[in-house]
Amino acid sequence: MTVASRPISQRIAVLPSAVADQIAAGEVVERPSSVVKELFENALDAGATVIDMAIEDGGRQSIRISDDGSGMSREDAVLSLERHATSKIHSAQDLVGVRSFGFRGEALAAICSVSHLEVETALEDGAGTLVRAAGGSVVDVTSIARRRGTTIRVSRLFYNAPARLKFLRGARSEWRAILDVVGGMALTRRDVRVSITHDGKPILTLPPASSLRERLAAVYGGEFAGRLLDVDDLLGTTHVSGLVERPADAGTATRRVFISVNGRSVRDLGLVRAAESAYRSTIPAGVRPTLFLDVVVAADMVDVNVHPAKAEVRFRDRWPIERVVENAVRRALGNFEAGATFGRTAWPTPAPPVAPAVVDVEALSGETSTPDDGLFERDQHESAPAAIAAATAPPVADVPPLVQLRRTYLMFEHEHGVVLIDQHSAHERVLFEQFMRTIDCGEQPAQRLLFPMTLHLGPAEAEAFERNRDLFERLGFEIEGFGGHTLLVRAVPMPHPRFDPERCLRETLASITGDRESGSHTRHERLAATVACKAAIKAGDALSPGEMRALYVALRDTTLPAHDVHGRATIVQLTWDEIDRRFGRR
Ligand SMILES: Nc1ncnc2c1ncn2[C@@H]1O[C@H](COP(=O)(O)OP(=O)(O)OP(=O)(O)O)[C@@H](O)[C@H]1O
Ligand SMILES: [Mg+2]
Repeated sequence: MTVASRPISQRIAVLPSAVADQIAAGEVVERPSSVVKELFENALDAGATVIDMAIEDGGRQSIRISDDGSGMSREDAVLSLERHATSKIHSAQDLVGVRSFGFRGEALAAICSVSHLEVETALEDGAGTLVRAAGGSVVDVTSIARRRGTTIRVSRLFYNAPARLKFLRGARSEWRAILDVVGGMALTRRDVRVSITHDGKPILTLPPASSLRERLAAVYGGEFAGRLLDVDDLLGTTHVSGLVERPADAGTATRRVFISVNGRSVRDLGLVRAAESAYRSTIPAGVRPTLFLDVVVAADMVDVNVHPAKAEVRFRDRWPIERVVENAVRRALGNFEAGATFGRTAWPTPAPPVAPAVVDVEALSGETSTPDDGLFERDQHESAPAAIAAATAPPVADVPPLVQLRRTYLMFEHEHGVVLIDQHSAHERVLFEQFMRTIDCGEQPAQRLLFPMTLHLGPAEAEAFERNRDLFERLGFEIEGFGGHTLLVRAVPMPHPRFDPERCLRETLASITGDRESGSHTRHERLAATVACKAAIKAGDALSPGEMRALYVALRDTTLPAHDVHGRATIVQLTWDEIDRRFGRR
């Protein structure tokens, strides 16, 4: 009976269960990769330690997956193909904090309703069962001999659902999607041995791995894995660990993102954004870093039951979790080790902060002071309270001897090798963090000018100034309009004695002209970054020994010392290992 011919009082009909299964199948089984995901999860839930997959024609012809898990009895094997047949939960209450991947008892029924499906299974080595089904109905059940575990073969996917069949992509594209899923699962469950073949060719063979780095090396190669930085932070009951890309590497190769929550690979834009925001000010807006993160939260903090394929999760309170993720990644990037490196090395943990006494570096080192030694030191005069972190000059013992090369780089020797610092990038990083603090706290370390200076601007520059007037004021500029596009500058910040306020202001305005809100950077960050870039010492500036030491300490005290605000490295290390190798000593 068609809808049109039905009496008006009878519009609603309960769908035959085969149709209901097919509709459910649309949600759970979109394409071959979703079949692989469901079958892989079932194998994991069954306690498998070895999972082997064989895929034909991008999964369009057939998908076979074998495990050494618990296996099923004859009755269960038949039941498993029925809708809402699950061994994993028994009541709604079990849904809270569910630990298994499956719990709806829907996947096998859904897959079976749109394919030819065979289940071969045995509880023990020896006597087992083979169930053959097609289009949701069991065709026959026979006894077979096999090892403990289960093999499921899905062939002719969507043979009876032409509308879906039409939406399948080419074999290559479906195969890529399968590899993505398998890669994700293999990263979540590193203890399991995984192998996969495509059209008979072995593609991946992953032995059990003891760490994420080891598994990544097996999947993507050792060089890729070796370049990533460790993340590991615990706050309250939230644990964030994993590996992330160095800012200097971001955007140079294919970007990969993997996030797991309580051992389940998920897509969660919020967590990805939180991790990315840790990179702010280290990479240009629009460049996205590679991330592999495992997030573990208390089981009752998260609901995995919100997405048909369980690819998304819902947090009871996501904000604190995102903060932990951001902080964990930021801490990983904040390490000196995050800098570019030749060869691998471990940077020593930074020395504990020096007591904030005003120590006379020159007196301690016995060096004579030159007039511009004060580049990074606290100006004692009220008029210029230009404190930067380096104001707390360190005892000399805390700073290695530094040499300036080409008036551009500072070089020093270190337990693990030779280190070069780019003086401009480093100073830019120092000033950026200082300006961000100034903007956030609203202090105004301004110096009044005896003779106000006038600046004549073009219309676009004047407009850029007006748009950012509040921020310039927070940074310590006191500026009045003076008719037309002329500005009268009465006070300026004095971040260091070589600072040239007029030039900095002009260059900053020129470079933010026509600037639009972009990417992840806030207006504050963009202005602070631009002013820092213009205010920082340049390549070519000769530095005194005192200035070099102060820069070293100021840089060490920043939160992200290894990168300037454009994502370039401030520090490059050449390890002894590498040097020895080049001289043929090892
Ligand atoms: N590889 C396997 N080894 C052992 N038992 C299995 C295997 N695959 C499925 N089963 C059994 O079949 C049942 C049904 O599987 P199915 O995937 O349809 O549902 P589920 O995993 O319980 O829930 P979901 O629909 O959320 O995946 C499972 O609960 C499990 O008992
Ligand atoms: Mg399942």
